[in-house]
Amino acid sequence: MKLISIIGARPQFIKVAPLVPVLAQTGLNHQLVHTGQHYDYEMSKIFFDELGLPEPAYHLGVGSGSHGSQTGEILKRTEAVLIQEKPDWVLVYGDTNSTLAGSLAAVKLHLPLIHIEAGLRSFNRRMPEEINRLLTDHISTLLSCPTETAVNNLRAEGFTNIINEGHLIPASFPNGASIPAAPAVANTGDVMYDAYLLCREIAAQHDNALEQFDLIPQEYFLATVHRAENTDDPTLLEHIINAFCILSQHFPVIWPVHPRTKKSLLESGLNDINKQFSRLHLIKPLGYFEMLNLERHARAILTDSGGVQKEAFFARVPCITLRPETEWLETVTGGFNVLAGADTEMIVSLALKPRNLDQHYQPYGNGDAGKKVLACMSVWSGKHAC
Ligand code: UD1
Ligand code: UDP
Repeated sequence: MKLISIIGARPQFIKVAPLVPVLAQTGLNHQLVHTGQHYDYEMSKIFFDELGLPEPAYHLGVGSGSHGSQTGEILKRTEAVLIQEKPDWVLVYGDTNSTLAGSLAAVKLHLPLIHIEAGLRSFNRRMPEEINRLLTDHISTLLSCPTETAVNNLRAEGFTNIINEGHLIPASFPNGASIPAAPAVANTGDVMYDAYLLCREIAAQHDNALEQFDLIPQEYFLATVHRAENTDDPTLLEHIINAFCILSQHFPVIWPVHPRTKKSLLESGLNDINKQFSRLHLIKPLGYFEMLNLERHARAILTDSGGVQKEAFFARVPCITLRPETEWLETVTGGFNVLAGADTEMIVSLALKPRNLDQHYQPYGNGDAGKKVLACMSVWSGKHAC
């Protein structure tokens, strides 16, 4: 059986990582197709090196562009690969333009499609990611949800073929066609939790992040910003930066700057703000291991990233989300994560406020999401029981 994973953006290299060894153990032919959506060393190659990912079988080299041109180019180039390779399954991850374009290419060739990290909703259709995930979910064959919330979101949108723990209700295959009539939905747990569990010890063994930046554990903030709604609105970006400047007067703020944000900072003349605030450290994007290490020692994390919100939760570090909503509702339960939007005062007061956290809550699975995805695929292929 041949499987193709379509990946292209930073979080997708991390999401595919737990699947790679699971699929390799079965002897299945699993190939990576890198769309080239992210291409800087710190946004792409570093993750292949750290996570031991195999060289992509295809590198499509699409690069940056408007939504239309990037999505269209990925669709065109992925289609050519899928026609040539004729895989039995296509796997897509998350909610980027690579996810949507890869999904469209697969379903129009009648190839079974699995969406990893299905069912997430912000209920904000101005977010490009919300459009990408809605469309991908509704054309997928098998939907691998990270949480019960995600399953319930899909239920509310009319998905009825829900795979319960240990059981699969096979959908019918009309006229012998290979695509089931009703897509199947399963709570497999979160592949990012798998990746976190696989990597946190390895990362800890190489932990020199504190020395490198001269930091004391629990006495610094870690920040990331890249959401278009924040970076492409100079007023919101300035509100967020003002909060970072104020916070840096209390504790150092370490801010690995995403290339999208770097561009916005240059355009709005805010790129040298750290000259006035010596404890606000704008640094280049970090590798996954260094990021995990800086996350776990942080006093609090300020972010608009989906993955970083979850990693803060996994590491039991307080998180302030720089958005008015989140898809990861479970991180908010128990007080780990609070929503501050781009409101300077709220960001500052929430970051400085001590929090009482419930230490035991774990809704993201058992670290075996990769194995569960494989089990569900195998059922569809008539090979094993789920
Ligand atoms: C994309 C995803 C977003 C995801 C994020 C992860 C979409 C619509 N957005 O956002 O969901 O959370 O990746 O990081 O797919 N750039 C570089 N070097 C790179 C990559 C990008 O300089 O290696 C710059 C380019 O100027 C580019 C901009 O960053 O125009 C934005 O990149 P793009 O991939 O379009 O979107 P992201 O903001 O990275
Ligand atoms: N990440 C990283 N280095 C950084 C910032 C983030 O390795 O400088 C990792 C982070 O640990 C998480 C993932 O990238 O695993 C999140 O990706 P990103 O924030 O780009 O996208 P999102 O999760 O919002 O889609």
